Amino acid sequence: MALAKRLGRPPREVAEELVASLDLTGLVDEIDVAGPGFLNLTVADTALVAQLQEMGDDQHLGVPPAGSPLVVAVDYSAPNVAKEMHVGHLRSTVIGDALCRLLEFSGHRVIRRNHVGDWGTPFGMLIEHLIDLGEDNAVANLSVGDLDGFYAEARKKFDADDSFKDRSRARVVLLQGGDEETVRLWRILVQESIRYFDAVYADLGVGLTEADVVGESAYNDMLDDVVADLDAKGLLVDSDGALCVFPPGFVNRDGEPLPLIVRKSDEGYGYAATDLAAIRDRVFNLKCDRILYVVGAPQAQHFEMCFAVAKMAGWLDDDTEAIHVAFGNVLGPDRKMFKTRAGGTVKLKGLLDEGTERARVALRARDAEEADLEHVAHQLAMGAIKYADLSTDRQRDYVFDWDRMLAFEGDTGPYLQYAHARIRSIFRRVETMPSEGTITLGEPAERALARHLVAFPEAVASALETLSPSKLCTYLFELAQAFTSFYESCPVLKAPDDATRASRLELCELTASTLATGLGLLGIEAPERM
Ligand code: ARG
Repeated sequence: MALAKRLGRPPREVAEELVASLDLTGLVDEIDVAGPGFLNLTVADTALVAQLQEMGDDQHLGVPPAGSPLVVAVDYSAPNVAKEMHVGHLRSTVIGDALCRLLEFSGHRVIRRNHVGDWGTPFGMLIEHLIDLGEDNAVANLSVGDLDGFYAEARKKFDADDSFKDRSRARVVLLQGGDEETVRLWRILVQESIRYFDAVYADLGVGLTEADVVGESAYNDMLDDVVADLDAKGLLVDSDGALCVFPPGFVNRDGEPLPLIVRKSDEGYGYAATDLAAIRDRVFNLKCDRILYVVGAPQAQHFEMCFAVAKMAGWLDDDTEAIHVAFGNVLGPDRKMFKTRAGGTVKLKGLLDEGTERARVALRARDAEEADLEHVAHQLAMGAIKYADLSTDRQRDYVFDWDRMLAFEGDTGPYLQYAHARIRSIFRRVETMPSEGTITLGEPAERALARHLVAFPEAVASALETLSPSKLCTYLFELAQAFTSFYESCPVLKAPDDATRASRLELCELTASTLATGLGLLGIEAPERM
């Protein structure tokens, strides 16, 4: 239709001409021109079968290796030291992990960066509070995971007690100056917090390690260079003692140009300067082609401004791109920000444990085998939580709802895990496995399943192109549905003859491995039995 418009000719005529000149023998059985000029193509079974066979022989299920592999830094998770991780960090962790897996599966090189908040003025009061409590008590407090409690107590003293406030301010200066004892105390706070974050990562089965932690503090030594570089390029403006860059197009509410503050008037550096240094490091030292920031939508302006400044400075260009992979909020049942009843941050570790407990109950209600119950309950819960997060369009908010995410029916993690386990159970009932036969597509449901299976590479590509794991979720959900229709209308173990049985088992096998691989790319495990 678009072509007809460009040619200025009737669409049907262009369509007829196209059909006459196309040679799609072997690929397409039939082409007809329909309606105002649509082309309906009926894919040939031989072509479908050939693709299925190729998929079956390929560990990557037909996903081609990237033509020009990129080095991609993925900045995700990034909780703050001595603060509870919140559900926003959960989203970042889950989405970031899925993107890393998708990128690696497609042949790109991924550099994970956990940009933890481990620097800034609050560390003065946190260290003083640690000293007041005594190291052992402080560590005991932090190791039970009460990060928010620790922070709140320090804050309370800071607001109420002037001498504590003075000590805290002096302590920041010592920290910034690299005072050995202060740095040692600071390190305790960082390490205890990371220990807690690691417990959450382990529970989630997310591949973030200590080696991936490159926190804000890691860029301290590069901040002066940022200033020097921006200055050399004539981009710095002195605004009441603060060094700023004014990227064009950014204005405040009153329409005045909005600065990105690189160095504050007290000569201190903030969040923005650190992110500028991180961009330089990732581009020039790590040689990244792409930098993805999996961070909540409220930080959109911060990233837009940092990227704009980085472009002005020539650090980023068309070949070296930074992208803010923004996501929406997690809401509670009341559709407000997901918080505890008292209004505090929901503890992630507790949340994950609660999920596992609920999954246990759900599995018992289904008479699951007691032997694997513990393990499967955990896989089910993590799958449910991750899938609920990944399957909603990432830009949108979603409601955290246990009953919905743990349901075995509908577009959920458990539904997909169960679809996979059910196929595996078919194979456990096979007495003699047929030798690999050829696939035949006699029934419409078989053809529909086949057509869906061969679209796996496309689903992976589209998830990567849009940086939206939800595309893959939709694909897998539809695959499970296509399989259900197939299974309802096409007996497998009781197929009419051996050849059909072998062919259908082959379709089962491909569906199971596509489900398992697809779930794996989302960071979701696929248990063999449930
Ligand atoms: N620590 C920040 C927060 O909790 C997120 C950091 C995101 N990454 C970055 N490079 N700024 O909001």
